[in-house]
Order: sequence, then C-alpha cells, then structure tokens
Amino acid sequence: MMQRRSFLTLSSITALWIVTGCGGKKSANGSSNDIIASKNQLPIPELLNPTEKNGIKHYDLQVQKAKHTFFEGIETNTYAISSTSTPHTYLGPTLLMQNGQKVSVNYTNALGEEITMHGHGMHVPPTMDGSAHQPIAPNQTWSAQYTVNQRACTNWYHPHTMDKTAPQVYHGLAGLIIIEDDESKALDLPKRYGVDDIPLVLQDRNFSNGQIDYDPGMREIMHGYTADTFIANGAIEPTLDVEAKEIRFRILNGSNSTVYTLGFADGRSFKQIATDNAFLEAPVALTRLTLSPAERAEIVVDLSDAKGASIVLKEYNHNKTFLTVNVSNDATVQTTLPSKLTTLEKLGTSTAVRTRPFVLSGMMGNFKINGKSMDINRIDETVPLGDVEIWEVRNDMMVDHNFHIHATHFMLIERNGSSARVPANERGYKDVVYIPANESVKFIVKMVDYKDNKVPYMYHCHFLEHEDAGMMGQFLVI
Ligand code: C2O
Ligand code: CU
Ligand code: CU
Repeated sequence: MMQRRSFLTLSSITALWIVTGCGGKKSANGSSNDIIASKNQLPIPELLNPTEKNGIKHYDLQVQKAKHTFFEGIETNTYAISSTSTPHTYLGPTLLMQNGQKVSVNYTNALGEEITMHGHGMHVPPTMDGSAHQPIAPNQTWSAQYTVNQRACTNWYHPHTMDKTAPQVYHGLAGLIIIEDDESKALDLPKRYGVDDIPLVLQDRNFSNGQIDYDPGMREIMHGYTADTFIANGAIEPTLDVEAKEIRFRILNGSNSTVYTLGFADGRSFKQIATDNAFLEAPVALTRLTLSPAERAEIVVDLSDAKGASIVLKEYNHNKTFLTVNVSNDATVQTTLPSKLTTLEKLGTSTAVRTRPFVLSGMMGNFKINGKSMDINRIDETVPLGDVEIWEVRNDMMVDHNFHIHATHFMLIERNGSSARVPANERGYKDVVYIPANESVKFIVKMVDYKDNKVPYMYHCHFLEHEDAGMMGQFLVI
C-alpha cells in the first residue's frame, strides 16, 4: 500500500518524497494473533506552510472522517484533519507559524457532528481560542484569526467540544503548531523538519477487531483510560532512520489520560530544551522525562556516537515501546547545542497581589473544581489584566490530575509547598502542570492581553475524561 510521507525543511526550501510504506512486520498489541501492526516507518505529518492573502497567512483545514491503516489489511475508522494539498487519515498537518505574523486558521467541519478547534498554548483573544464557546456546526467554517504573539514553542490544536473532547481527540483529531521567532532561528539547533527536527505525537489507543475502541468504564474514567497499544504519529512501534548527529524531538503527550515517563532503552541521557511555551533558559540533562496529557517537551539527543545503532524510545510507566531510532546515515549538517538558550521573564512572588485557590475533587462520573462541575453559563473567576497572581491548585483525590489554563503561560513556583521540589526542567513557561494524587502546586501568572468582559477562557484538568465529566471552569480577563 502506498503511504505518502513528506519531509519538509523549516526553511523555504522544501522537498517531497513519496515512499512505499510496506516493510517489516511487528506483532500488534497481543490481543489477536492475526492482527499485525502495519506502518513500520514513523509518519511525519505534513508541514503546512500557509498561503498568503492580503498580508494574512491562511491555513485551510478540513476536519473529517477517514480510514487509517494501523494494522495490515485493516482499515480503521478515524477522524483526521486534512489540508487542501494533503489528505490526512489520522491527526492533522503541523502548522508552521512565525511570531508577529497575522494568521487565519480556517477549520471546515466535515465531520457530521459539532466540533470546536482550540489552539492549545496559543496566546490569543478568547473569541479566537476555539474553546467550547466557538462551536463549529457541521458544514460550517470557523476561522481563528490573530497575530501570533508569543515565543518560539511547540503548541497543538484539538477539539474542545463540550462533553465530547475526549472521544473526538481519541479518534484522531489533533495536530501540532510550531511557532518560530528570531531567537529560535538564530540558535544552532536541529531545524530540518522530519530529518533532525522530529515531531512526535505520542498516544495510546484501545482497538477491538482493528477498530478504535473508545468505551471507558467508570473506573477507567476515574483512573485514566489507558490503552494497550502505544502509537507515535499514528503508527504502532514505528522506526525512524536518522543521521548520526544531534536529533531534536518535539514531543506531545497526546493521550487522553495517560502519564508517560519517557527514556531511551540504552540509558543514554538527553537534554530538554523547551517546555510547553518557550525554550528553557539552558538545556537540562535528563534520562527520564515525565509528561502528563497535553504537556510538550522539546529534547535534543546526541546520536553522533551511535552510527549503526538502534535506539529505542520507551515509556516506562507501562513498559512500552514508542519508537525505534535507527542511526543509519552520516551527518550531512552538524549542530552544537548551545549552553544558553534564552532568558525568561520571571515574576517575583512579592509582586503577586493575590492567591487564587483551586481544589480538584470528585467522585465517580462527577469531577469538580472548587466544588463545582463545569457550567458553560457560569463565570468562575475574573482576573484583572496586569495583576500578578499566584494560583494554588490542590489535588484532593487519590488519582492523578493535571491543570491547564488557556490565555497565557505560567511559571511553577512550588510543588507540595516547596520551591526546591520544582525540578529544573519545569522551570520554564508552561500551560499544563502535572499534579499527582494528593499533591499540590503553586504557579505565578499574569494576564497581559486580550481583556473581554463577556467571553471567558477555560482552565481544566487535561485528562480528557475528567474534563468531559466536569473538571473545568471559566475565567474572564477584565
Ligand atoms: Cu488543550 Cu482547554 O485545552
Ligand atoms: Cu488549551
Ligand atoms: Cu483529572
């Protein structure tokens, strides 16, 4: 079967290969002997360069039903986001944006049910956020129009439909957004998309007879709907051929509710260079990296000594393989990871004018923040523009959660009451923070733009089953 793959550089020089996707076989999830994982090469989502009309960069996207090959000889029903040039059968293209650019991300809903499309991590007005307040009816087009107004980072887009986010994402609706700025372009980092700058959307999915099986029970909603098949960019345990040099991965935990602890099977260390919304000030050496749902990390791993080796990217909480990296080629370009990446603005805790408490609680099927389940007609918090605030989020449950805010990034200042417990790789701009069972976090945040007296932003647990079951609230920036 033909499988279209594109490798596009982040510069204006682009090239497109069509390669056949047949090859070695891997056994699937063990549930059935005659179901064989299909794709053996890591699919690289199309890098979508926009088309320009009147100084505005347009990204034309269509959200639709599709059929995707996870297993040999089986067409799996999925949802996907296609560009006008490239049909996608699972996930969507990577949107490449430049800071300062005017953009219009145009989503046409051909799915046959209501959706919304949220730019996760995007610093945009609430009317352009794609939250539950901007529904797109079937056969309608909605455009997120804004000026890109933030640092280089890896963001993503996904549905945010009231009560339906989890199943819609589970069937394949998600894609990456790469933001570049002058700083990211000047740094000596791997930048060849699909060659040494690799997008990696990590997920786990349950299948039944080769079809996506989304049917969480009460217990799974509570503890997380974790599946037995782990996938990277929509492929089961794929391989990736790379050059013997520094390789950058832009990793998204794209799961519904599974916490991943990642590392390389040979124990090699790597450097985290970016958190959710910006570069870290300096690379942080790690051998394990934990990401809860919706968190991103950019890492650089030096494979210049590994020519001929196969390096396995594993997930250690569930002992699964995500990807095998074959270091098969000589380097054609060298990069040297800088020891300093950026300078981040740090808000002093003494400048905070208030502390806003949030308590995550709930029981089977009913999840709450500060004692309330999500009500789209209720404003839970009003946050004055320009005020420095500390938000304290306490997980009062015996299960894990995380906490995500729209509108802007924050910086973590405490874990469990201690600033020393904030690890070096979390000392950057973030929009999601993992809060294990019975733990708490404090972060410092300031709303800097986009006040709106009517349309709120959301905050919520990004374990999508919890979000859909009510663990979400709304705030106005006034
Ligand atoms: Cu990733 Cu409210 O969203
Ligand atoms: Cu978001
Ligand atoms: Cu949760």
